[in-house]
Amino acid sequence: MAKLIINGGSRLEGEIAVQGAKNAALPVLAAALLTDEPVIIYNWPAISDVYHMLSILEHIGAYVGFEKDRLVIDTRRALRWEMPDKLAKEIRSSIFMMGPILARFRMARFTYPGGCEIGNRPIDLHLKGLRSLGVNVTETGGHIMCEGRRLKGGDVHLDYPSVGATENLMMAAALAPGRTVIRNAAREPEIIELQNVINQMGGDVNGAGTSTVVIEGKSRLGGFTYRCMPDRIAAGTYMMAAVVTDGKITLKNVIPEHLFAITSKIREAGAKVDIYDDAVTVTGQGRPKEMHLIETGPYPGFPTDMQAQMCTAACIAKGTSIIVESVFDNRFKHVPELQRMGANIVIKNNVAVIRGVERLHGAEVTAMDLRGGAALVLAGLCAQGVTVVDQAKIIDRGYETFESELSLLGADIKREE
Ligand code: EPZ
Repeated sequence: MAKLIINGGSRLEGEIAVQGAKNAALPVLAAALLTDEPVIIYNWPAISDVYHMLSILEHIGAYVGFEKDRLVIDTRRALRWEMPDKLAKEIRSSIFMMGPILARFRMARFTYPGGCEIGNRPIDLHLKGLRSLGVNVTETGGHIMCEGRRLKGGDVHLDYPSVGATENLMMAAALAPGRTVIRNAAREPEIIELQNVINQMGGDVNGAGTSTVVIEGKSRLGGFTYRCMPDRIAAGTYMMAAVVTDGKITLKNVIPEHLFAITSKIREAGAKVDIYDDAVTVTGQGRPKEMHLIETGPYPGFPTDMQAQMCTAACIAKGTSIIVESVFDNRFKHVPELQRMGANIVIKNNVAVIRGVERLHGAEVTAMDLRGGAALVLAGLCAQGVTVVDQAKIIDRGYETFESELSLLGADIKREE
């Protein structure tokens, strides 16, 4: 199993361009099924979750072409509406295919999706929403069968502003006759990206970025060309690398608006953040200060995908920080690993009380999920001695060439297959 071996203590300095956004690319890849015309995607992140989604598209009959810096996908010959169990279990975002497959074929058969072990990840909101659009959903023997001959626009209220459910339902509604209104929709920037893509296809979607998204269904949609927006979580992760190593890192081609919750907490930790039109520079100001309270929540709240990385900074802060994980019910799997490195953390339900120590020490640790794994790498960068992060492939799910970027910034890090 791949490992990352990190010799801590270097101050990271330099500049990097941030990769395309994983959580924008994945639903847009699924949207390729909404048309029988070719689609083109630029600045796509070369990460394993994307490659998995591409293999799912190929399995159901789509053509996938890699042409220099662009992806070409042609689903004209797509004919399967059954999601292969093995592929569906590999990544959570296979669930995004349900809406488009249903809209395209009026049938869909899925097993329960896999994905990061960050708690129970139900899909009840997806299924309840599809039922509101006239879909007959039956769950038998671990499989979900959707029969959508009567797919039509309808009123959906999400009990929780689920990102995936919002995206799935937008895509199903895009080809459902009539009007669909999704209330208590997720407001993440990735939802706006999907709206723009569907509208470029000839769709009629409004309200993305607010809690109410309105879709007027169409009988058919055309192709699209999309350039992935920068990944705000990858950007935030590298910003935290500057904080924990007391370094200075400039991130190019970011959208500062997407980073304000992160920027605010980094400033609270005492580091300097300079904001430019499409770049940010983070300059460490010595040992971070404690962050009194970080609570994760739906956008524009503090992103749950940055919670683990903030834990690492809190581990070496001058005081005591409190971090509350309010989105997922089991997203502290990085904590026992940080404790092996000398962190002083107490977990009570979904609350982590973190008393900062002067320095962490290197240890053998294991990445249990994508962002937790990234947080362990950050911990290795600032720890005394050598840290080995096992199961590094989990990190490859969301970060392009993570160790190469960090090496360019001065980290002593290498991969061992
Ligand atoms: C998306 O996951 C992201 N993944 C996650 O990023 C991100 O953490 C999450 O949104 C929240 O921002 C992609 O976009 C591919 P949710 P998703 O549905 O859609 C509960 C990363 O590291 N829920 O908004 O799966 C769920 O259990 C990944 O890049 C239900 O109860 O997240 C969770 O507690 C990790 N029923 C909460 O809602 C449902 O039907 C938020 O989940 C669906 C969700």
